[in-house]
Amino acid sequence: MPAFTFPKDFLWGAATAAHQVEGNNINSESWVLEHLPETIYAEPSGDACDHYHRYPSDLALLAELGFNAYRFSIEWARIEPEEGEFSYAELEHYRRMLAACHEHGIKPVVTFHHFTTPRWLMRAGGWMDEKTPERFARYCERATKHLGDLISVACTVNEPNLAMLLSKLLPFNLQEGPFWNAAAQAFGVTPDRLGLFQFVTQPQLRDVIFEAHRRAFDVLHSGPGNFPVGLTLALVDIQATEGGEHKAQVLRRQLADDYLDLLHGDDFVGVQTYARMLIGPDGVVPPGQDVERNQMGEEYYPEALAGTIRYAAAATGIPVIVTENGFSHTGDALRLQYFQAALRCVADSLESGIDVRSYFAWSAFDNFEWNSGYRPKFGIIAVDRATQQRTPKPSACTVLLLL
Ligand code: GCO
Repeated sequence: MPAFTFPKDFLWGAATAAHQVEGNNINSESWVLEHLPETIYAEPSGDACDHYHRYPSDLALLAELGFNAYRFSIEWARIEPEEGEFSYAELEHYRRMLAACHEHGIKPVVTFHHFTTPRWLMRAGGWMDEKTPERFARYCERATKHLGDLISVACTVNEPNLAMLLSKLLPFNLQEGPFWNAAAQAFGVTPDRLGLFQFVTQPQLRDVIFEAHRRAFDVLHSGPGNFPVGLTLALVDIQATEGGEHKAQVLRRQLADDYLDLLHGDDFVGVQTYARMLIGPDGVVPPGQDVERNQMGEEYYPEALAGTIRYAAAATGIPVIVTENGFSHTGDALRLQYFQAALRCVADSLESGIDVRSYFAWSAFDNFEWNSGYRPKFGIIAVDRATQQRTPKPSACTVLLLL
């Protein structure tokens, strides 16, 4: 294996999102969606990994494993449980969490919105409503006033292009059917006004999110603290097979360029990659029967990260931070191999002159994988669902092996 040469200040970490690990995020829209009789969620999130209470020992464990950074999100639904009502206690909770990161020599990379949205905002039209950018900026302002001096890197929103990606991968339309109608009813809006961040493909959603991002960018830069600000995108490595070049080109525009083009002026682009997408003359070519797959059905293809880093860097001209990369599998051997190959892609990108500043494995823990529930195992640390006991897997030591 060629020697890896990573810069001294390179950030090595693992990532999580509040709703997926904290537990009992009852004021969020996801909690409501999980409990609808018509739900598409395999199970409710419940206690998740109880990270809300266990973060002190979780951070100690991550530090012990050799990480110097941790990416997590703060929960808007906790910080602003009703419109304009901010919880000092919850802000203090996150302040203690940030302080604990620093005590362990861990740089906190904070996401201000990782999919979950307060219930009150959904009743007001969520991410389809034109007042949402203003509301998001107000929340970011309040949160950063309280926390900014302890933040190392900030991501405003996570994967505004996810809904578009899902629309190309799923064989059905998420924005219709019993689940969609029941969700709209639960938030007291008509189905066409259900502004769910993860599922809406209307251009209006993208406009609202990017306006929210721009406003948050300015707010987060106005202090306290002085940290880089950007957002993260779900980027698959789109590769054409014979005759598929035109279709691949169109997809790259819809899934990547339409979003990357809006990032000029940001401090970085957060790249989140899991797999590649092969495109033939008739569209997406499913992986062959004989290939290794993860629990999400995607092909084992760690080299995808090289393609997406190169693509994002070329399209934006700004530094890249790899904010998520991982492989869901019940065993750990393939995940370990995946991380090693992916890290080689990062090293090669650095050697070719691309400004890559971090690598975050998804995920620190086996956690709540949204509508798939707890079945997919993405974690480098196993979590016993009954006892909450943590057990690091061999892949958790990947970083130490490479340093
Ligand atoms: C996303 C999110 C994570 C997921 C991860 C695995 O990409 O959807 O950022 O919340 O859990 O990607 O699917």
